[in-house]
Amino acid sequence: MAQGIIEALRRDHQEVRKMFARVEAASGKRRRELFQRLVAELVRHEVAEEEILRPVSKRDAGEAIANARIKEESQAEQLLKDMEKLDPGSAEFASKLARLRRDVERHAEAEETKEFPRVAKKETPQRLEQMGRAYQAAKRAAPTRPHPSTPNTPAANMLVGPFAAAADRARDAVRDALKSTS
Ligand SMILES: [Fe+2]
Ligand SMILES: [Fe+2]
Repeated sequence: MAQGIIEALRRDHQEVRKMFARVEAASGKRRRELFQRLVAELVRHEVAEEEILRPVSKRDAGEAIANARIKEESQAEQLLKDMEKLDPGSAEFASKLARLRRDVERHAEAEETKEFPRVAKKETPQRLEQMGRAYQAAKRAAPTRPHPSTPNTPAANMLVGPFAAAADRARDAVRDALKSTS
C-alpha cells in the first residue's frame, strides 16, 4: 500500500544517512561542499516536515511525541549554529559533526518508530498521498543551497555557515508557497 508522505520522509532519511557518511569520508574543500549540501538537504527536510507532517502527527501521535521531535530538531539547529564558524578541517568540527550525525540518526529513528507509524495508521492512503505531494512542493520551495548570497572570498570559503539564516529563509519560502496554494 502506498504511504505517500511516509515513504518520502523515509527516503529522505536514507539519503541524509548516506550524505553523512560521504562528508565524514571527505577532506578539504570537498568536505566543506558536501557538508553544505547535507545541511541544505537537512534544512529543507526538517522545515517541510515541520510544516506538513507535524500538525497532523500532533493529533495522530499525540503532543508529547510530536513535541519531543520538534525539540530534537531545534537542538540540531543550535548545533549547526555552533558549527558554522568552524573550519571543517578542525578537530572541533569533526567532533561536532560526529555528534550531529548521532543526534540526527536518533531523531530519524524516533520519527520512524514512534511518529510515522501512528500517522500512517490513522490517515487514509489518499490523505497520505496528498500530504506527500504537499511535502514535495514544500521541499521544492526551500532553497537548495545554504547561503547563495555569500561572496566568493577566501574568508567566506573558510566557513560553512550561516545556517541560522538559511533555516529562516527556508521556513519563509515554504510558508509563502503553502499560503499561495491554500
Ligand atoms: Fe525531523
Ligand atoms: Fe525526518
